[in-house]
Amino acid sequence: MNTQVLPVNEESIALAAKLLQQGELVALPTETVYGIAADARNGEAVKKIFEAKGRPQDNPLIVHICGMEMLHGIVSEVPERAKKLAAAFWPGPLTMVMPRGPEVSEVTCAGLDTVGVRMPSHPVVQAVIKASGVAFAAPSANLSGKPSPTNAQDTFVDMDGRLPLILDGGESAVGVESTVVAVTGEHPMILRPGYVTKEQMEAVLGEEVLVNHAILEKLKDGEVARSPGMKYKHYAPKADVTILKGSFDAYRDYITAHAGDGVWALCFDGEEAQLPVPAISYGKEGDGISEAHNLFTVLRELDRKGAKTVYARCPLSDGVSMAVYNRLIRAAAFRVVEV
Ligand code: TXA
Ligand code: MG
Repeated sequence: MNTQVLPVNEESIALAAKLLQQGELVALPTETVYGIAADARNGEAVKKIFEAKGRPQDNPLIVHICGMEMLHGIVSEVPERAKKLAAAFWPGPLTMVMPRGPEVSEVTCAGLDTVGVRMPSHPVVQAVIKASGVAFAAPSANLSGKPSPTNAQDTFVDMDGRLPLILDGGESAVGVESTVVAVTGEHPMILRPGYVTKEQMEAVLGEEVLVNHAILEKLKDGEVARSPGMKYKHYAPKADVTILKGSFDAYRDYITAHAGDGVWALCFDGEEAQLPVPAISYGKEGDGISEAHNLFTVLRELDRKGAKTVYARCPLSDGVSMAVYNRLIRAAAFRVVEV
């Protein structure tokens, strides 16, 4: 299959809309990461997403809408909490898991009786949904297991020959995928951290928002994941990544003792020149927003540089940094060394 990469304009939006209506795939920018869209009601179309990504069939997809009226048929009920969170954070990088409606294909939800829905703020996604009238399922546009792409070039590297169209809308602002929160049950629960934080949701809801324990630590053997995506290998570059937890001096000393061919440092801004191996920064220390924005792009950059072993500085784990820590610890296959 020939994959076209087109700049965003009226014609390319119309082409994207037509492809979606015909049950084809389109890769497109969102404010979080690039996604691969297919009509969420059309099981045959959604199957193509799983094939293009090599995604395990039991991992459900998020449905994207552009107005509250589109929830009709997608969910069977809009819980009170969801209304409050939607008023505060939609359109934006928040996915809410709600009771599934009759119109969503089984394939989209991987057979679950719930569905994750989000209303993205990116003007290109909104334009494509409006032009097509299609609520679409869209996972991140990476091959399963790799870091999510945050620009059209990285999307092309993974999806060339696998789908007909990539819309190039520049770089994604947020850089990590949406926050996923389950809004039913006794307490709301974060299933995947993102740009919208626990603290922000608690302020809106006036109640505690729980954080699923599998977000910051490895699932135990045989444990059932609350969100199927938790159990798979994720965000991994080709190199072996290890997170070094401790001061900058201890980090530098550890790397000095372990320097060698193909060893790279994944550090914070301004530290590069003080390290004994080639180094690349993933943002400002303590600034989750800047680290989230850069992380996936930098992990892919390390692949291009041929890095074999990467020692990463440890981010914080609250606020937006919770999303950064959650992605980096998976990229590192949970290897964290205290230095
Ligand atoms: O920012 C985003 O959310 C991006 C862009 C493209 O919108 N999409 C995205 O989709 O990250 P994906 O498929 O890569 O991640 C979806 C995550 C998975 O971890 C999945 O397990 C979880 O959401 N999920 C989806 N539906 C769910 C459900 N009904 N119950 C629990 N978890 C669900
Ligand atoms: Mg993904």
